[in-house]
Amino acid sequence: MSAQFPERDDEPRREKAAELPDDDVVGILLRQHARIRALFGEVRGAEGARKQDAFNELRGLLAVHETAEEMIVRPAAKDTAGEDEAHARNAEKQEANKVLAELEKMDLSSQEFAVQFAQFQQDVLAHAGREEAMEFPALEAGCTPEQRQTMGRRLLTAERAAPTHPRFARAAVDAGPIRLLAGPGPRRARHAPVIFPGREASCRRTSRTDT
Ligand SMILES: [Fe+2]
Repeated sequence: MSAQFPERDDEPRREKAAELPDDDVVGILLRQHARIRALFGEVRGAEGARKQDAFNELRGLLAVHETAEEMIVRPAAKDTAGEDEAHARNAEKQEANKVLAELEKMDLSSQEFAVQFAQFQQDVLAHAGREEAMEFPALEAGCTPEQRQTMGRRLLTAERAAPTHPRFARAAVDAGPIRLLAGPGPRRARHAPVIFPGREASCRRTSRTDT
């Protein structure tokens, strides 16, 4: 990965997220990114059961976050940030899922895990940094506040039904929103199936993507 996005102070993101309505998709994603960053630190700083618990939480959050982003955010990102950006983010997410599958087979106390986890952290945070630098500003510029709030509510609905294991993430995305909410994977729907009615109006691409 060319660009480097080292661990950074999350204060500006928290301030930015706090300015947005609770259901604004950008605010939701910024808060989840902050939690993902914190969990990386917890995994690296803990031992034994606490390390395992933090890793399990990180794996589950990444699974639902990335699945819902691919289903709800990427279609709008194609309209606002462009197809290349959306495809690049999806490809990074798929690569991360492969690495995560390798990590979970390892002894978390081993040096092998420490080395691979450090690289995984760098790659995932670089991915999140590119979303924050390119996709989110494009969504803010190209979608109305109402569209972003609709997307935020759909994102949370998709996350509640998404599999918490990345092994099932591909099938969930391929199945689409309706199937997702009825399965797949071991985590069955806890809610009545919900049909997303589609975007009422498309977000649009603007030149203002660097705000
Ligand atoms: Fe993300």
